[in-house]
Amino acid sequence: MQHAKVTLDPAFTIAPVRRRTFGSFVEHLGRCVYTGIYEPGHPTADPDGFRQDVLALTRELGVSMVRYPGGNFVSGYRWEDGVGPHRIKRPDLAWHTIETNRFGTDEFLRWCGRAGVEPMMAVNLGTRGVAEAVDLLEYTNHPGGTHFSDLRAANGRAKPYDVRLWCLGNELDGPWQVGFKTAREYGRLAAQTARAMRMLDPDLSFVAVGSSGSAMPEFGTWEAEVLAATYEEVDMISAHAYYEEVDGDLGSFLASNLDMEHVIRSVTATADHIGARLKSRKQINISFDEWNVWYLSRFQNQPPITTWETAPRQLEDIYSVADAVVVGSLLISLLRHSDRVEAACQAQLANVIGPIFTEPGGRAWRQTIFHPFAQASRLARGTVLRTAVSSPAYETPKFGDAPLVDAVATHDPETGAVALFVVNRSIDAPVRLTIDARAFGRELRVGDATVLADDDVYAVNTADAPDRVAPRPHPGVSALDVVLPPVSWSVIPLA
Ligand code: AHR
Repeated sequence: MQHAKVTLDPAFTIAPVRRRTFGSFVEHLGRCVYTGIYEPGHPTADPDGFRQDVLALTRELGVSMVRYPGGNFVSGYRWEDGVGPHRIKRPDLAWHTIETNRFGTDEFLRWCGRAGVEPMMAVNLGTRGVAEAVDLLEYTNHPGGTHFSDLRAANGRAKPYDVRLWCLGNELDGPWQVGFKTAREYGRLAAQTARAMRMLDPDLSFVAVGSSGSAMPEFGTWEAEVLAATYEEVDMISAHAYYEEVDGDLGSFLASNLDMEHVIRSVTATADHIGARLKSRKQINISFDEWNVWYLSRFQNQPPITTWETAPRQLEDIYSVADAVVVGSLLISLLRHSDRVEAACQAQLANVIGPIFTEPGGRAWRQTIFHPFAQASRLARGTVLRTAVSSPAYETPKFGDAPLVDAVATHDPETGAVALFVVNRSIDAPVRLTIDARAFGRELRVGDATVLADDDVYAVNTADAPDRVAPRPHPGVSALDVVLPPVSWSVIPLA
């Protein structure tokens, strides 16, 4: 059996675990909102139409923050259509659907309160600009006595919502975006918008739009040009990445976090370069506000939607064991870079490439990818440790050599709890993992470890078998040794 080793030392830390790492994303797309989180008339719906079954799963998932309302959708969105008693129906150009606007800003922010999550709102910098962004901020944050703050009160909410985290648009480097821009056009608009919004409310955090992906032709130059224009106005730059298995190449797919590592390193280096050029002491961090497994090629190979429907089934990927292991490895990378990844959102929350799946009028259940997120969110506490992993490698067509085992650990100095998150990417062989935790100076042993694996790496959860794939007690544990099954995600608390 191949052998890997992890060495942990409480003195070697990266950064505190940030709760905003465990963000999610709700876009007006497909059934994420309608029949996802919101379905008036559903047997579990509360008087606001929020599905209680989905709220319960959102809390169990451990989501800390939710980005809204898009995504591509936001680049054509008029937020005023979705507030007050008269809602306006419009065609949504991004996804070729009809938006009823029955769910809007007030519903979202009320839903956040129920779910116990922080809102991250995106403003439309595709078809709109500074004025409409400031209007929305006036609606959400201004105490009262002005047109939009009084409108909020008239709509039932006197107290400001106090939204702190704002995205200055979405993926505006992409030609698919309504109102896409050059970096120069966007950078100027983003800087002006942030400046104006801060004039109304000085205590805001802003995310500038980064490249839509590392394969974009302008990846790197876009970030440099945008940050050159916005550096002193913003706090973070966004990164987006989606992964899928292509042409049966499971080995490369399982190593997807090597690309995420490359994105984080490249964007960090670019931001620091601009900071140096501007002689600024400020550090710009990353908001990885869209990441996940997404079978994008299946979506792109479908004929374009020509009918205009309301909340049709779109991007409803059903996830497998392998997908869950990849999601686990992406969480490992996000945690490992907690010094520079300040926020992150798994895209999306329900039905649309989401960990929660629902049937209209029916039940809600956990997709396979629900589990690594929920476990990491619950158990990653305190500080991220600089986790030394020594692992045999395997050859991948896409990335060359990739380590079979990847891992990250967290340590909570207050409770003494240590949690180790590990993937084994071998397609066919177990790997024995030894944990060297001598530096803790006290005897640590593996506690109630769990593993997510299956003889069928393509096994999925369905309405009829919603728990077919779930973490189970780890069978291969002894003292500080764990046998990791092939294609597996393990969570190993040390007690
Ligand atoms: O999450 C799905 C889509 O992916 C989002 O709308 C967009 O921002 C990205 O391209």
